[in-house]
Amino acid sequence: MSLRPYIVGNWKMNGTRAMLSEARAIDRAAQRYMKVEVAVAPPFTLIHAVHREAEQIAVGAQDCHADPDGAHTGDISATMAADAGAKFVILGHSERRQDHGESNELVRSKAEAALEAGLKVILCCGEPEEKRDEGKAEEFVLTQLKLSLPDAMEDVVERLTIAYEPIWAIGTGRTPTLDDIAAMHGAIRAFLVERFGEEDGGQIRILYGGSVKPENAREILGVANVGGALVGGASLTADSFMNIALAA
Ligand code: G3P
Repeated sequence: MSLRPYIVGNWKMNGTRAMLSEARAIDRAAQRYMKVEVAVAPPFTLIHAVHREAEQIAVGAQDCHADPDGAHTGDISATMAADAGAKFVILGHSERRQDHGESNELVRSKAEAALEAGLKVILCCGEPEEKRDEGKAEEFVLTQLKLSLPDAMEDVVERLTIAYEPIWAIGTGRTPTLDDIAAMHGAIRAFLVERFGEEDGGQIRILYGGSVKPENAREILGVANVGGALVGGASLTADSFMNIALAA
C-alpha cells in the first residue's frame, strides 16, 4: 500500500464564516486532484460548517483535551471534535507547546484520547533554531517523537501522520535546505521503522511544514520521505493552497 500525498491546511486562529467560500473552493478543486489527499483544520468554530460543505476534503481539529469530558472551561474534547465532523486532529503543534506549555507527555495523552475517539492524529515535532545551530536538531526531534507517541497503536499507517515543522521556519518565509529536510525526514523514517517495524514504519506519512508556498512546494514535496505538507498561511486562500496540492 502506498498512501497518496497528503496536503493539510492548518488555518490556526484564522477564519470566520466568511471563509466558508474558500473551503468550498478548496473542496471543489480537490475533486479534480484525486491523486492527492487534501484536508483542512479550521478553528473549532468552523469545523461543523466546513464539514457540512465538504464532499471531498477531510476536516480536522487543531487540538483536543486529553479527557473525554469534564470541568475544563474553554476546552474541547476529541469526542466533541469528532461529533462536529472532525476526522483528524493536529497535536503537539509548536504554537500549542509554546503558548500553552504543552509537554510531550501531555501531547501523548491527547493522542491517546484522540485515537480512542476515532480521530486520526497528525503529530507535530520540530526544533527551535538554537538546537539546529548546536547541531542537535535530530536529537531534539526524535526525543519529542519518542515521548509524544502513544505506546500502542492499531492501524498505525492509516491513523498516524507525523509533521516535521522546524519552529524557525513557521511563518517566516525561511525553509531548511532540501538536504536538511531529507536528513531530518530520513531520521524520522528510521525512528518509525524501529518503532513500528519495516512495513508500517516505512509507510507512515511524514509531512513537512514551515513556509510551504506554491513557489517552493514542488521541490520540497520531491524530497525523499516527504509525504505531503502541513501548510499554514498559504492554506488560507483556495488559490494558493490548491496550487500546493497541484505541485504534489
Ligand atoms: O502547521 C502549519 C504551520 O505551522 C506552518 O505555517 O504559515 O509557515 O505555512 P506557515
